[in-house]
Amino acid sequence: MKIRTTRALQCSATLVAAGLLLTACGSSGGSGSGERAGSTSFKGRGPITYVAGKDTSGVVQKVIDRWNTLHPKEKVTFVQLPTDADSQRQQMIQNAETKSDAYTVLSLDVVWTSEFAAHQWIDRLPEKQFPLRNMLKPVVETAKYRGALYAAPASSDGGLLYYRTDLLKKAGIAQPPTTWSQMTADCAKAKKLPEAKGMSCYAGQFQKYEGLTVNFAEAVGSAGGVVTDANGKPDVDTPEARKGLDFLAGSVKNGTIPREAITYQEEDSRQAFQSGKLMFLRNWPYVYALAEKSKLAGKFAVAPLPGLNGPGSSSLGGHNLALSSYARNKATAVDFMKFFSSEDSASTFLRDASLAPPYAHLYDEASLVKQYPYLPVLKRSILRAVPRPRVVQYGDVTSAIQQEAYAALTGSKSSAQALKDLQSALQKSTAQ
Ligand code: GLC
Repeated sequence: MKIRTTRALQCSATLVAAGLLLTACGSSGGSGSGERAGSTSFKGRGPITYVAGKDTSGVVQKVIDRWNTLHPKEKVTFVQLPTDADSQRQQMIQNAETKSDAYTVLSLDVVWTSEFAAHQWIDRLPEKQFPLRNMLKPVVETAKYRGALYAAPASSDGGLLYYRTDLLKKAGIAQPPTTWSQMTADCAKAKKLPEAKGMSCYAGQFQKYEGLTVNFAEAVGSAGGVVTDANGKPDVDTPEARKGLDFLAGSVKNGTIPREAITYQEEDSRQAFQSGKLMFLRNWPYVYALAEKSKLAGKFAVAPLPGLNGPGSSSLGGHNLALSSYARNKATAVDFMKFFSSEDSASTFLRDASLAPPYAHLYDEASLVKQYPYLPVLKRSILRAVPRPRVVQYGDVTSAIQQEAYAALTGSKSSAQALKDLQSALQKSTAQ
């Protein structure tokens, strides 16, 4: 790495070493390559790539095709990575570490912004060129590192409870549950119906990967706990966190969550719900459009996630567009990022694939609310969602969470022991 002496870079280097919070060096911005990139126009036009996890909806290629028709000399090739976030992150890091120009625009999970920006794997972006003011504030925050913009919000994500309206109604239950115990009781009642024979109650994403970090954080948050406190310090060895983890581990033990759910990622759990195996499912908004096209059409609805004593809280998910520092044709890349993150594209992603838009007003637009009646619920879920730890060493943090949560879910550790061990692992990975 070139030696630069600005305060910003000294700060950034310390943060990389310590894996600390993005706010630790303040948000006054600074000099260094980041700011130069932010204010200088990007150079180079020609073909580029767009790199993202596998597109389950088919809508991504449709939007890219639209761009390619308009820009035949600046074509975008869609490079599809595996569906799970951890593999995507690994491949993007590998690309950056080899300084390869194979990836141009990265679809960055909202939790990776600090890590990619601090390592200068992505360029700082010119804030004024993106309509951030029209976007939901917590979504814009996920795209910033130390107060500067490093990504353009493309889609947000908030956890939702999918449930079988047909079966609940038949069992005499008019409203979706707001607490975990109501959910279990509703399920027990509905399972008595002949058409519910063999069904399980609930699943989320419990395989050892990023989805488990999300589900763990949601369970902890929905029981009144936190993963990190307001100062960014780990705080998981608490009675509240234990109640959250106990809900998950206890549900696997007593069969409320079927044993096979410890192998589920998003897609496995969606398939299980669509094929009628589950009464309740925790998943992201993208499931809605796909389930509406399945045999479950008209037989399900979505509600806020339930919690211990009342409605629960969601982890904040989503994807932002970042520009690889090692890419060529950056002028084309920035134009494509503007196009792909525009309100027009967001509205196509919403209409065709029920992806949560970053744009606030789309959640209130009558024709969209007609198509997706849960949009106001989703907006609230995103506005109240809890960000996962914003740390540079996110990889260490998430793998510690995955390891301990999985140990508790599979019964190889008690929740209490897993949380104790997690607290010390998190303290180590965020220590100076
Ligand atoms: C979704 C979310 C992302 C999260 C991932 C976990 O893709 O948008 O933020 O990390 O699921 O599996």
